[in-house]
Amino acid sequence: SEQPTALIMIFGATGDLANRKLFPSLYQLFIKGKLSKHFAVVGIARRSLSTEQFQANVKESITTFLGKREDIDEFISHFYYQSHDIADPSSYAELKKLAHELDQQYSLEGNRIFYLAMAPEFFGTIAEHLKSDGLTEVTGFKRLVIEKPFGHNVESAKTLNNQIRTAFSEDEIYRIDHYLGKAMVQNIEAIRFANAIFEPLWNNRYISNIQISSSETLGVEERGRYYEKSGALRDMVQNHMLQMVALLAMEPPIRLTTDEIRSEKVKALRAMRPLEGDEVKQNFVRGQYGQGIINNDPVPGYREEQMVEPNSNTETFVSGKLLIDNFRWAGVPFYIRTGKRMTTKSTKIVVQFKDIPMNLYYKTDQTLNPNLLVIHIQPEEGITLYLNAKKAGSKMDATPIKLNFANVGVDAMNTPEAYEKLLYDCMRGDATNFTHWDEVALSWSFVDKISQVWENEKEESFPNYESGSTGPKASDELLEKDGFFWWPISILEVDKC
Ligand code: BG6
Repeated sequence: SEQPTALIMIFGATGDLANRKLFPSLYQLFIKGKLSKHFAVVGIARRSLSTEQFQANVKESITTFLGKREDIDEFISHFYYQSHDIADPSSYAELKKLAHELDQQYSLEGNRIFYLAMAPEFFGTIAEHLKSDGLTEVTGFKRLVIEKPFGHNVESAKTLNNQIRTAFSEDEIYRIDHYLGKAMVQNIEAIRFANAIFEPLWNNRYISNIQISSSETLGVEERGRYYEKSGALRDMVQNHMLQMVALLAMEPPIRLTTDEIRSEKVKALRAMRPLEGDEVKQNFVRGQYGQGIINNDPVPGYREEQMVEPNSNTETFVSGKLLIDNFRWAGVPFYIRTGKRMTTKSTKIVVQFKDIPMNLYYKTDQTLNPNLLVIHIQPEEGITLYLNAKKAGSKMDATPIKLNFANVGVDAMNTPEAYEKLLYDCMRGDATNFTHWDEVALSWSFVDKISQVWENEKEESFPNYESGSTGPKASDELLEKDGFFWWPISILEVDKC
């Protein structure tokens, strides 16, 4: 239904994610009329708080992140709180009682969503208790929503998955990858499958390479403890970057249903060529930021950040070349690049088409620009197509022109919007924009081979890029070896129409 009904139980309700993303997103759904009166939220955390105090926190988070809002008192009246010890059965017994009462009071049809907005080491314990203490016995649906990191490698991911699978089936598990909630990531499919002009060209006959860059200006901030164990490869590549690769590379699904799309994504990930030994060095580059200047302010290097080892070898930058061994993509490199403390906050995909067979404009000493399709994911949302046209007044000079579609007026930080979409999808039972276990496992297997090689040969020359730059030199050389270069963000800027 368009106005789904459910009891949403948020574990980790006093944490950062709940405050920054979940409460504001739920509120947006509420004021847009996408939540019926039949919803209630139970905030669950260790801290002892009254429901009134919790409601005040929710109100504060919404006014902080969204500004002063109407109907907020009505909205927060749907919120309840329970102080909880995740290892104590009596906590679950209380929760079960509260859930039952709210179910009656709000006519929730026995529907329950368990949102684990907390560290994954607790997922197993919680899932086991939800089952053994009777919270998963429902008359409606039950769904589990979990956040990354989903494991540290394929082995730990499997263990985690087995733990949650004792209480939930695969189609009841909603693994969040917030990039899949971004409007322009969701548009990759529409661009490919709703236009006659792209899909016929979407292969190794016409595309020379694809570049996916996601850069941030922020450093590691307060997350040093997590990030030291993760690094950019696990933090960004295993999930967000490979999800974008899968959406760009997959075959057209026979229908736009969750299962059909997932099975095409899985096939694309399965076709990624695994890297062994020396191939890792040849195809992947890692970096770590040193000091530098961001927005005119000097910033510290990674090794000087809080909770970071002074001789840390954790990478804050990764770029790599992926090959997809199937008929469509044989020979077409997919270059990916992500890093912290870079020049700009920006995520873009550039599809570079092959040169035309013969350049009729060479006499004018001009090299023709290749056609590019640029998908602007953030901060702007849009599509640009670079073509060549005749230069006005000239006889046979070609000049590049841009066809531009920009979705202006969108919030520059569209992450809350992504959560809003994903929460709504989960409530309606649409798992299309969540990652299936098979995708998670394949992504880990690919990434594990790289991290194993990196762990065995410690990088000595960190830091190797300055804050505020485009990353280490080796990242540029990676493309130069193949006769390409990273299209600079400066020339890819979307024109606001
Ligand atoms: C998260 C990573 O998944 O994505 C962060 O853990 C990163 O390190 C963030 O900053 C980037 O997301 P966005 O939406 O700002 O591009």
